[in-house]
Amino acid sequence: MMKEVRVGIAGLGVVGTGVVELLVNNNDRLRRAGAALRLVGVSARDRGKDRGVSLDGVCWFDSPEELAGSDDIDVFVELMGGASGPAYEAVQTALRQGKHVVTANKAMLAEHGAGLAAMAEHKGSSLLYEAAVAGGIPVIRGVREGASACRVDRLVGLLNGTCNYMLTKMTSSGWGYDEALREAQSLGYAEADPSFDVGGADAAQKLAILSTIAFDAGIRYGSFPVEGIEKVTAEDIAGASKLGFRIKLLAVAQRSEDGCELRVHPALVKEDHPVAKADGADNFVIVETDPLGRLTFSGPGAGKGPTAAAVVADLVALSRGVSGPVYNALSTDLQEATLVSPDKKASRFYLRVGLKDVPGAIAGISETLAQKSISIDSLIQPSVSASGEGRPDAMVMLVTHETTMAEIRAAADEIRQKAFALGAPSIIRIEDFD
Ligand SMILES: NC(=O)c1ccc[n+]([C@@H]2O[C@H](COP(=O)([O-])OP(=O)(O)OC[C@H]3O[C@@H](n4cnc5c(N)ncnc54)[C@H](OP(=O)(O)O)[C@@H]3O)[C@@H](O)[C@H]2O)c1
Repeated sequence: MMKEVRVGIAGLGVVGTGVVELLVNNNDRLRRAGAALRLVGVSARDRGKDRGVSLDGVCWFDSPEELAGSDDIDVFVELMGGASGPAYEAVQTALRQGKHVVTANKAMLAEHGAGLAAMAEHKGSSLLYEAAVAGGIPVIRGVREGASACRVDRLVGLLNGTCNYMLTKMTSSGWGYDEALREAQSLGYAEADPSFDVGGADAAQKLAILSTIAFDAGIRYGSFPVEGIEKVTAEDIAGASKLGFRIKLLAVAQRSEDGCELRVHPALVKEDHPVAKADGADNFVIVETDPLGRLTFSGPGAGKGPTAAAVVADLVALSRGVSGPVYNALSTDLQEATLVSPDKKASRFYLRVGLKDVPGAIAGISETLAQKSISIDSLIQPSVSASGEGRPDAMVMLVTHETTMAEIRAAADEIRQKAFALGAPSIIRIEDFD
């Protein structure tokens, strides 16, 4: 006779109602999978709201913390969101009482993950969070369990569906950033205030969580550089295509002899690489390991069904008795991360320079780069149709051979001051794969 697990859910929004639906409609399948899950309590802000799901026989709690501390539940499922505040308070209450916790809250984990892990491990309970990174894709389980015996050397992810959708649309339709954002908002891929997604914070929080698992090191959101896609223009997308690349928002974590290098930023990726071909709102993650080799995960990184499926998979794992450290290592064994600045990393770079109608511009750009020992791999000069006030008369896009961010920035700064240059050149790193 399988032991029944009593579940309490705080948060009945997009993900919470998806979880209720799966628990109610899919109960037979879950039983066959060895999980006897019973929803006993829920909490949200507005008791009167019609949520389109049946909550008959389920106890309502006005306070999520009261639900978290209730003796009637074995697992507290936190689906409210927010790094601190009620979600964090309620999760701590549940863990203090030795209850298991399942959450989709990347913001809370990226901020307080190590402390919450210590609380869970101290009490011998589980804190599971598959839905917090890449929504429905089992990448946490893949790295934490599948690759637990491996050294992870590099993670490269498209971890934000909004950005991937917008960049895909800009590539396929020739749209500018604003047009792509409006479409993403109308389809529900982007929030009314999109800054958290397009500014790279969402991807960075997910990267902090994944790399804590991968590198056995306490890595916090806010400790590494993050750049969003706001400055990527239709010209960059078109220029990158002509040069044989696609532009993607990459989240990268790399192990080196000196420590770990983490960064989130738009990058050019060779157009024939699987990362470049991962289009639309899906997520895509590559994990390079030793001795397992390269693992690839792809699929829906957000949305009601996929995210709820990941939450319920955690509940099934709990019901089956899966336990162990919250990350790969126990929280007491997490090392202090030595973060290496990406500015030192040698890469190829893409440079776009707006030009005034002055002779000798291309020679001037080549000379400036040569003085910094930066050589040009390829260069294009597309025709510019709409020049006018503040617009360039011409434009040059080029790809350099390997150099560092510090060197290319210094060169771009010199180019900006030349008589032929219109504004500061834009710089995008090229991510090469072996
Ligand atoms: N949506 C996705 O695709 C997705 C994907 C991956 C991870 N996540 C994560 O999943 C979590 C939930 O996201 P969501 O999209 O489902 O959010 P949502 O639709 O905004 O739902 C949030 C829910 O939390 C409740 N809530 C908020 N503050 C509360 C408080 N102080 N006390 C009680 N209840 C409170 C709200 O109650 P009312 O309904 O009464 O207002 C609502 O039911 C977040 O951590 C998010 O980052 C979401």
